[in-house]
Amino acid sequence: MTEKFKVAALASGRGTNLQALLDEAGRPGSPFSVVLVISDNPQAHALERANREGVATAVVLRKDHPSRASFDEALADTAKRYGVELVCLAGFMRVLTSAFLSRFRGRVINIHPSLLPSFPGLDAPRQALEKGVKVTGCTVHFVDEGVDTGPIITQIPVDVEPDDTVETLSARILVREHVAYVRSVRQIAEGKIPFPHPALALAIPPMETP
Ligand code: GAR
Repeated sequence: MTEKFKVAALASGRGTNLQALLDEAGRPGSPFSVVLVISDNPQAHALERANREGVATAVVLRKDHPSRASFDEALADTAKRYGVELVCLAGFMRVLTSAFLSRFRGRVINIHPSLLPSFPGLDAPRQALEKGVKVTGCTVHFVDEGVDTGPIITQIPVDVEPDDTVETLSARILVREHVAYVRSVRQIAEGKIPFPHPALALAIPPMETP
């Protein structure tokens, strides 16, 4: 049997995107397996989801590290121990620095609830409603040192309805997120997308600010 492509997820919260990846990994013939879930939040429901599926978990706390760089190094050391090939951010609510990204160049992807480059950062569905856009959606992208700025892998549009609230819009986007994320990870694992991302794999990291 050929070895499956090894995926880790970083998650801070409820972990529905993680669950979508776990469900896909569990299907017969899946080209990838989720080998590790790391969280910065010991209470994250994502950890329970991983435990339920028998997937290894690790908690790395920011407060145990004197700097962002040493926190990021601890995350990277943990993922390296499991031979991880692709890192999926699944509701991981911290921005990774080059201390992490330089160890996984072009191998980190993220899911975001807007059609980037519109509405990066927090509360993207709220930003979309406040702006009055008629179409929003979700984006899967490679991660660089910016906030939600890396090369785009796939996007799925979602119509904004006149009576939408943040909750109703977020819920409709989330359903599409699960589809987009699973599809992207499958395509990477099957070699259908250049991987590691060529431009990012060559990138020289910017100078660290203290
Ligand atoms: C998802 O909507 C994801 O797109 C978003 O957090 C949520 C996590 O949900 N991420 C970001 O906004 C990152 N900028 P989940 O824990 O149920 O997967």
